[in-house]
Amino acid sequence: MAAPERLICASDDLAEGGDGVRFEVDTTSGRLPAFVVRFEGQPRAFVNQCAHVPVELDWQEGAFFDADGRYLICATHGATYDPVSGACVFGPCRGAALKKLAVVEVDAAVWLLGADG
Ligand code: FES
Repeated sequence: MAAPERLICASDDLAEGGDGVRFEVDTTSGRLPAFVVRFEGQPRAFVNQCAHVPVELDWQEGAFFDADGRYLICATHGATYDPVSGACVFGPCRGAALKKLAVVEVDAAVWLLGADG
């Protein structure tokens, strides 16, 4: 496993199906907005860019989940994403996916492992 690259947040900052934490990630495409949420007990991180139109998903800062805390949802046109794979399961970009980022939870904190662009 790659060494943790950068601290994102404390583990306690992420409740299951709750608000996410925004951060930025350097990629070969430049610095991009990103976010991490907790789902099925694990931190799940993605570039904060809808697969439909490259806008940020959250309608207010940190609000990435639908009302049930089951899917990630884009506030602009309602694209709905699987929080594990990032695949769009409903909406205008069905079949596309969010760009997943590798994170790890160590010592009560969530760390970015690195972005490959
Ligand atoms: S921009 Fe996200 S669904 Fe259209």
